[in-house]
Amino acid sequence: MNELDVIDRLKWRYATKLFDGDKKIPAEIWDKVEESLVLTPSSFGLQPWKFIVITDQAVKDKLLEHSWNQVQVTGCSHLVVLTALKNVDGSDVDKFISDTHAKRGGELISLDPYKGMMNGFLERMTSEQKHAWARNQVYIALGQLMTTAAMLELDACPMEGITPAKYDEILGLENGRYTTVLACPLGYRSEDDKYGELPKVRYGKEDIIEHI
Ligand SMILES: Cc1cc2nc3c(=O)[nH]c(=O)nc-3n(C[C@H](O)[C@H](O)[C@H](O)COP(=O)(O)O)c2cc1C
Repeated sequence: MNELDVIDRLKWRYATKLFDGDKKIPAEIWDKVEESLVLTPSSFGLQPWKFIVITDQAVKDKLLEHSWNQVQVTGCSHLVVLTALKNVDGSDVDKFISDTHAKRGGELISLDPYKGMMNGFLERMTSEQKHAWARNQVYIALGQLMTTAAMLELDACPMEGITPAKYDEILGLENGRYTTVLACPLGYRSEDDKYGELPKVRYGKEDIIEHI
């Protein structure tokens, strides 16, 4: 893919309001989407998230009324619910350190300074601040998800217009460590979705980019 293709794809994408309910994303393409979620970078590399992929129509139907009745939720092929850790703690640091050691080898003790830095970072924050930090990481995953979708010529709609508490209830997250942040339906745009033809509304480079 050359540079022009990248920009063309980004111009092609839009927040899809109406999906073609008959078109499903093939498994081998979906696998790339999941791989791109796995590859999302995060602060310290801590990955304080889980992504719930819903293809079960009955579950999607239940979520509709808790999504401001936005029909993307039911019409899409795959609905991704992006969740964040409610309270990042030392066990998350330990898990990450142990995975780093497993993947990179070397002396476990050599990771102690990094571990201490992460624990110190977390200890200086209230639980609200830690949750806000985890949510910020989830938005990076959302960006990566949308861009990957565009590159694969899949349509998507980032959605904050949901009631996270109700999502948690329906998805059985209430007593777990993760909580819903936002949703992103993916699939193929319907020919009847007029939003796909609207010009993009973006400020110019001169407005938003400064060179020093
Ligand atoms: C974090 C976030 C939340 C959004 N929530 C919704 C939503 O609930 N429903 C919706 O139809 N669009 C939603 N949008 C889509 C934006 O309105 C849209 O991306 C923006 O107007 C730019 O248009 P474009 O994506 O079509 O280029 C959301 C976008 C972002 C980034």
